[in-house]
Amino acid sequence: MPKELQNCILFDRATPLSFPRCFAYFTMKNRIPQILTKVINALNQHKNEFFEKHGEAGTEAENKAVSLISKIRNELQADEPLLPLTDNWVDTDIWNKYLEYQHSLLNENNKKISWFHSPWLYVECYMYRRVHEALMLSSPISDFDVFKESKDQNFLESQEAIMSLCNYLEELNRRIKNLDEHQLKDEFFKLLQISLWGNKCDLSLSGGQSSSQMSSPLTALEDLKPFILVNNMDNLWSVLINRKKMSQEKFPSIRVDFVLDNAGFELVTDLVMADFLLTSKLATEIHFHGKSIPWYVSDTNKNDINWVLEELKAANTKCMFECGVNWELYFKKHTWIYQDHMFWTLPHEYCTMAQVAPDLYAELQKSNLILFKGDLNYRKLVADRKWEFTVPFHQALNGFHPAPLCSIRTVKAEVQVGLAPGQGEQVTVSDPNWMTTGKYGIFQFDGSV
Ligand code: F6P
Ligand code: MG
Repeated sequence: MPKELQNCILFDRATPLSFPRCFAYFTMKNRIPQILTKVINALNQHKNEFFEKHGEAGTEAENKAVSLISKIRNELQADEPLLPLTDNWVDTDIWNKYLEYQHSLLNENNKKISWFHSPWLYVECYMYRRVHEALMLSSPISDFDVFKESKDQNFLESQEAIMSLCNYLEELNRRIKNLDEHQLKDEFFKLLQISLWGNKCDLSLSGGQSSSQMSSPLTALEDLKPFILVNNMDNLWSVLINRKKMSQEKFPSIRVDFVLDNAGFELVTDLVMADFLLTSKLATEIHFHGKSIPWYVSDTNKNDINWVLEELKAANTKCMFECGVNWELYFKKHTWIYQDHMFWTLPHEYCTMAQVAPDLYAELQKSNLILFKGDLNYRKLVADRKWEFTVPFHQALNGFHPAPLCSIRTVKAEVQVGLAPGQGEQVTVSDPNWMTTGKYGIFQFDGSV
């Protein structure tokens, strides 16, 4: 067993955390089969394209991928034991050891964990990894992104909102030099909130159905403020403005890292935020962390970023075109850096990162501020446990402190820490489904390193 994995398992066993949350029945019963059906449809729709590109081998590969995906759906619906992966990707061994570990936790005479009897975070990640396996085993179409069309559609349906955002950014960049500190802070807060509400547009919550931003994201911000349950935006401002003030004397660089979530509209809100950070000199260097394989339907990978840049450059509105050109240049000049790492598509909670992926942990330690976008990142930050609402965020992070960090997330899964006494109960009374709709949001900061 690789050394880093041994560490991780020992670490996990010794963890003082409470129990992981078990499967979310609705997600497993309805949403996941729905997503798998969409994957099959996407493959079917590209049949001709595969044939044109690869001849008979393309058709055979498509048939194989479809039958492997159908097999996953059947296994799930029959609540069969989870199977080891049979592909040969960089993380295959880690996944298989993790599966053995999960089986061993059952500790019941060779009983195996199954789709409906395992921790939700693990089994949901496992499903996406099995989809990747199905494609890996279906050469020559292995690099086909089964979720690409849904992601692109989200961007295309959000055109109006994207245009108004690019327009706003262009106008802001023009007057940015004349803004005093107070005004700059207001703009920072505004763009942070846009990036927060952009996280409503994820496609795994809607089972892959359209979930785009139709209206201007700027006009609704005041009305949405009451739905921000934890608001540590001031802490983010302090980290960056203090660093900026010191940067003239001591530190030449200010690095901000985005651990990205969804492509499409949310990605644009993040890029707009990143653009503002550079122009305002609140940051000098931005790192974007994306997924290396198709993940949770709408999560961003390298191709999604490239596609968005091309779309923006091809737009016939000046502000969108300029965003496309400027952002491409930032990437070329390495002021913006895209990185991916297999850790982001493992099922592991982030408190194990230092053991499982020490290189990634060391990379994040170079940051001055890490922004974790979205719900899945939050679940992994706090290990997806049944925490009490009032448990401090710092405690739930369980030793994960590579740099000052903030979760920017709309609440879609039933896990939340760091609320004021009585706050969670009060929201539950007024809105019993508040934890699963994405209607509420948080900026939750932890400054310890
Ligand atoms: O609730 C369904 C779900 O798949 C959750 O597992 C996950 O937390 C969420 O959707 C994905 O949301 P996000 O894109 O914000 O991470
Ligand atoms: Mg997502």
